[in-house]
Amino acid sequence: MRSLINILDLSTEEIDELIDVANDIIDHPDKYAESCKRKKLASLFFEPSTRTRLSFEAAMLELGGSVIGFSEAQSSSAAKGESVADTVKTVSCYADIIAMRHPKEGAPYVASMNASIPVINAGDGGHNHPTQTLADLLTIKREKGTFNNLTIGFCGDLKFGRTVHSLISAMSRYEGIKVVLISPEELKLPSYVKNDVLKKKNIPYTQTTSLEDVIGDLDILYMTRVQRERFFNEEDYLRLKDTYILEPKKLEKAREDLCIMHPLPRVNEISVSIDKDPRACYFKQVLNGKYMRMALILKLLKEAEQCI
Ligand code: NCD
Repeated sequence: MRSLINILDLSTEEIDELIDVANDIIDHPDKYAESCKRKKLASLFFEPSTRTRLSFEAAMLELGGSVIGFSEAQSSSAAKGESVADTVKTVSCYADIIAMRHPKEGAPYVASMNASIPVINAGDGGHNHPTQTLADLLTIKREKGTFNNLTIGFCGDLKFGRTVHSLISAMSRYEGIKVVLISPEELKLPSYVKNDVLKKKNIPYTQTTSLEDVIGDLDILYMTRVQRERFFNEEDYLRLKDTYILEPKKLEKAREDLCIMHPLPRVNEISVSIDKDPRACYFKQVLNGKYMRMALILKLLKEAEQCI
């Protein structure tokens, strides 16, 4: 049974196919309005979410399917001590596909080993978030027209930011990619991502604490929130949370065609006065996420049918 746990579970050809389907859905939504008739998505969210959960649910509804699930662990039997394995064995009896978010790294993988239906990782702890990456990739393709020869700056909480880890993995497979890592010392990219992805794939990268010094070099600036919920103490969070605030003045040195991205939610990292700037792409990412999730649901359900 095909699941999506890590973005590298999809080949670059498959990502191109998903992008083609998403673009076709954007152009011809009616064609897909009944594609998932009588199919059910279970959205199992053990952690807070706005965009990811609602975009999965909107995606399934727009495909003519329906949705069951829960949006907090407290309202599921997890609160009684049920294991992830037992939860998904149960849900496999009711639904056709699962989208799962969980605070523990690896939980969606465990789910995929125990479910008899496809499982989509909707974010596992500080680890991965492959469907945010699909949203990011469609945005990059639509804004830049290519995945090759781009310099991408990742700024903020590179340690716990799972969207950063997944997008770096995805971009490492394209030609001529350069990565600029902008973070405080304490929130640097984990060495497993540096060693297993950047070094292994010979991707040139630099590390800095100063956004101002590098902003002029970037094609894409990927801002992130400091991940409060993954900190061990509040003091550290308070000290680090406002390290980077993108304001119009900081954009003076940026390129005219810079693409400013953010997986959202934003707390303070991007001033709202930047929202009107044509370079701001973060609300486009939100919409693109729904179309890529539609394309992904279609693909995984089709493959699941072929397994029967
Ligand atoms: C991200 C996440 O959950 O990792 N949000 C999202 O899904 N768009 C980013 C974040 O929470 O900071």
